[in-house]
Amino acid sequence: MSEFQSDAFVFFGATGDLAYKQIFPSLQGLIREEGLDRPIIGVAKSGWTLEQLKARAKDSLEHHGGVEEAAFKKLTELLRYVDGDYGDAATFTQVRKELGSAKQPLHYLAIPPSLFGTVAEGLAKSGCGNNARVVVEKPFGRDLSSAMELDRILHKFFPEQRIFRIDHYLGKEPVQNILYTRFANPHFEPLWNRLYVRCIQITMAEEFGVEDRGKFYDEAGALRDVVQNHMLQVLANLTMDPPSGEDHEAVRDQKASLLKAVRPLTPESVVRGQYNGYRSVPGVAPASTVETFIAIKLYIDNWRWAGVPVFIRAGKKMPITSTEVVVTFRRPPRETFGEIVPATSGHMRMRLSPDIVIALGVRVKVPGERMVGNDVELMLQRQAALDEPPYQRLLGDAMRGSNELFARQDLVEAQWRIVQPILGNVTPVYTYESNTWGPEEVHQLIGADGPWINPRPPETR
Ligand code: BG6
Repeated sequence: MSEFQSDAFVFFGATGDLAYKQIFPSLQGLIREEGLDRPIIGVAKSGWTLEQLKARAKDSLEHHGGVEEAAFKKLTELLRYVDGDYGDAATFTQVRKELGSAKQPLHYLAIPPSLFGTVAEGLAKSGCGNNARVVVEKPFGRDLSSAMELDRILHKFFPEQRIFRIDHYLGKEPVQNILYTRFANPHFEPLWNRLYVRCIQITMAEEFGVEDRGKFYDEAGALRDVVQNHMLQVLANLTMDPPSGEDHEAVRDQKASLLKAVRPLTPESVVRGQYNGYRSVPGVAPASTVETFIAIKLYIDNWRWAGVPVFIRAGKKMPITSTEVVVTFRRPPRETFGEIVPATSGHMRMRLSPDIVIALGVRVKVPGERMVGNDVELMLQRQAALDEPPYQRLLGDAMRGSNELFARQDLVEAQWRIVQPILGNVTPVYTYESNTWGPEEVHQLIGADGPWINPRPPETR
């Protein structure tokens, strides 16, 4: 593992939700496992003191992974805090002061995209941006044109190799494992195409609601929050062509060409839902039509996947929290044994959370005189989720200057192109009850390609 070249870690949005849930646990992990020993400077406009930020860090760790005495002590020694408005030059003068002798800091913008331009400009004018890397949090823009505009603004101050667009799904072990399993084996690739695959389903179910993120969420909705980015990244890993060559851009090149082949969505290919009770979440508009659930049907217009329907579902307040991919294979050309076989028979299931599973669904004969069978799953891999949070991996990579697991601008734009026609209120939003799999209308969407395959709790398989 190469050295961190970034000699300071600055994070804007230090008092926010993301810092609380992800950044502090990642920093503690980087200190403990990789010996991070650089100034860590939190920036926010909350009227806080450094002591308050340290208390927040402790609270964050108590709720997310646990406080580790030695690493936490180091974290508090490294931590600095700058309180100020992002539009005020004095804030950046203060950041520059806290940077001390650091010459190539990393700035993580864990703030709403509408502030990226202001902060990037503040960094550049104060000298904090010299030789610096900048990590920008998703969503990268609100649509295709704002993503392009954002890119233009960032490029005014930072060259491409210093811009890191984060999508934490790319830092997840099981998401990497999709690529690994596909391309480290000869078995799957010959089947991985329209001749053998009947349909693909990707489900991201979350049992919890929007809770304390009402304001953010009501400006995003499920499509912008997790489909445009996380789910399409999973799709790309699942369906891209093998990378050619060793070049570190090879994977991103193939992902980009896959995403460019995805047909932009139409209103007929979408069902949106909103859970009953969402509108009373603090920060949510009383008559909000923002979706907390979305199901889409898409096609990939290339030779490998022509005609294979891909279904993606993502929702809050579902019966369980789990993300799962199921690739269902076509049946043999005729049912030799005259059986009526479930449509989901013959599949590959890749579970990304809460546990990690790769399973191959096959039919085997039931012992006895009759030629009848049942469906079983061959477990190729089954393990608990790993300890290293994806943000730890990604922030470490950014500090080392490795951008392989970050989104490239052409990928981001391809993702926006896919969802652009269905952004906003182009289709109605149906109400669904908590603890259900979304509105009834989703069954019409999947039709004869169904049924939907719902992830089950780990212990029932
Ligand atoms: C975030 C979304 O990007 O991803 C959240 O903003 C969502 O709404 C989260 O809950 C899911 O991430 P994970 O890693 O828990 O699957």
